[in-house]
Amino acid sequence: MTYINDALWLPKRGGDLTVGSSTYTAPKPGEVVVRTRAVAVNFVDAMPGFAYRFVLPWLTFPAVIGSDVAGEVVEVGAGVTRLHIGDRVVAHAAGTEKSRNTSAEGAFQDYVVLMAHMVAPLPDSLPFEQAAVLPIAMSTASCGLFQKDQLALALPTASPANRNETVLVWGGSTSVGVNAIQLARNAGYRVVATSSPKHFDWLRSLGASVVIDRTSSNVVDELVAAIGHQPLAGVLAIGAGSLPPTIEIAARLPGSKRVSTTNPSPITSVRARLARRRGVTVSTIWGGTLKDNEVGPAIYCDFLPAALASGAYRAEPVATVVGDGLASIPAALDRLREGISATKLVVRI
Ligand SMILES: NC(=O)c1ccc[n+]([C@@H]2O[C@H](COP(=O)([O-])OP(=O)(O)OC[C@H]3O[C@@H](n4cnc5c(N)ncnc54)[C@H](OP(=O)(O)O)[C@@H]3O)[C@@H](O)[C@H]2O)c1
Repeated sequence: MTYINDALWLPKRGGDLTVGSSTYTAPKPGEVVVRTRAVAVNFVDAMPGFAYRFVLPWLTFPAVIGSDVAGEVVEVGAGVTRLHIGDRVVAHAAGTEKSRNTSAEGAFQDYVVLMAHMVAPLPDSLPFEQAAVLPIAMSTASCGLFQKDQLALALPTASPANRNETVLVWGGSTSVGVNAIQLARNAGYRVVATSSPKHFDWLRSLGASVVIDRTSSNVVDELVAAIGHQPLAGVLAIGAGSLPPTIEIAARLPGSKRVSTTNPSPITSVRARLARRRGVTVSTIWGGTLKDNEVGPAIYCDFLPAALASGAYRAEPVATVVGDGLASIPAALDRLREGISATKLVVRI
């Protein structure tokens, strides 16, 4: 089987993204090919050329970037029995991951090769555009919450036990945060979150028990009081400036002393070393690592399909469709660089 494939090519670090033809790549065992119908854009797709040297130093060019894809399965590789031609799915495309590093697996093209265990079938009621908001944000939250080298929490299930422990999600209104709140709730944990006040009701509707203004002058004391009556299960620190207050909170409360951060940097490393003196362990998340351990299949195969169908999990934040076709993606990235709030930018393909 073969199809005519176009891709949005990144010719070199810092080069201009340009639509051009590509070859159709058939799936290997354990893979599927999906006809892309919608993609979402992320900070990693919008980073300047020099940043590739630090964030994706292994990436070979020309490259096809992009991680968030929703569409229809058109071909299934050997050994894949869970997915079928015609299935509507959402998936985390792994083309820019170090262990994959292949243009065939970048999301920004018409036909994308995907690892089958990073693909989840969609209920008919969920449009591709809205489903596309999920993958990298949900994967990043899952890595932080569930991997053994991060918070190592119990995995989400359809009927979770009440665990009588609290997870703190600092940055609850980010795309990663709204997924973290829902994942932690579906794993049976109580959730306390931070955001700006305009997002309080939204985060409560997703399952947060208490939401505190992250800009409050008293934020650490308010969070300690809100969490206080239950031991801490762990802290997910999302966004600039999230580490100092979350380390302080973990140091003061009973329970887990683990803080998992989405923001690796040299300053994070220094803060992590200092935190150890207070008994707090800080670990940094790479949102693609779940594809290589038990967390990826636990989320994309075992949990998400049924949870989306039952309504126990919502594809959030709301998608803002900003264009049609691969050629619209560069403008979507420009818009992302200007900043977004409580939404994810999506392009229909
Ligand atoms: N390590 C990884 O693999 C990985 C993967 C994906 C994302 N990330 C990182 O995770 C972070 C969140 O990404 P995202 O795409 O989920 O964000 P996003 O959806 O663009 O988040 C937007 C929201 O962030 C909140 N915000 C702004 N500044 C903040 C701050 N200093 N602290 C906490 N919240 C803040 C704002 O809400 P309020 O006004 O309500 O606070 C805003 O609505 C980013 O730093 C991103 O680089 C890391």
